[in-house]
Amino acid sequence: MELIETGDYGQLSDIACEEVCKAAAQKPHIVLGLATGSTPLGLYERLASAHRQGKANLSKVYGINLDEYVGLGKEHALSYARYMWYNFYELIGIPGEQANIPDGLATDLESECRRYDEVIRSLGGIDLQVLGIGANGHIGFNEPADFFARDTHIVQLSDSTRQMNARFFDSPQQVPTAAVTVGVGAIMGAKRILLLASGPEKATALAAALYGAITPRVPASILQLHPCVTVIADRAACGEING
Ligand code: F6R
Repeated sequence: MELIETGDYGQLSDIACEEVCKAAAQKPHIVLGLATGSTPLGLYERLASAHRQGKANLSKVYGINLDEYVGLGKEHALSYARYMWYNFYELIGIPGEQANIPDGLATDLESECRRYDEVIRSLGGIDLQVLGIGANGHIGFNEPADFFARDTHIVQLSDSTRQMNARFFDSPQQVPTAAVTVGVGAIMGAKRILLLASGPEKATALAAALYGAITPRVPASILQLHPCVTVIADRAACGEING
């Protein structure tokens, strides 16, 4: 794994943006695996601005989002579908068919998981996967567990994840208890992975993911087995790596 330590979050976002733009210039129809949450917001803002200014053309990319809350549809202000359209997809003007997000309102969630894996397969897998990391080491919503789940699946969100994400909701009780997430199969099948980490609350998880045992208790640790991972992390997130 390559580790790029940046001075701050802005620099992290700049470097991530350069990497995505370079990859999209080489392959205009690139399949991007995409995370939500706070960490990639700077990246999306910069990508949208590069696109607007004609420095990058992102209109042909395909997006495969990692996850969605069960029970929240695209009309819900806090759904990941809404987040993606508001923060990225709308700003680069891509057609709906190119923007893929699991349907958190599907009546048959198991079928939705299979449909989503089929979408990923039909696009030939993910070219460049952008990941954040949970304070508990999760990637997507692959929470700490007894085994790594390969396929898209329904997951019960851990208390720590619900607490972390409560900042977006009016009250902690409103945070959904379950989500649909791609499994580690699609993530590890990506040709290249960019893992972004910012802030001191990620320091323990990042150190464990990069240098600890490979275990489903720290889902991000599986990335040690991927041949092409670039970690872009600010100084605070690297706090437990540098000693
Ligand atoms: C969400 C996702 C999650 C987040 C993680 C970090 O789509 O993939 O794994 O990346 O929870 O979230 P933030 O960036 O909000 O700290």
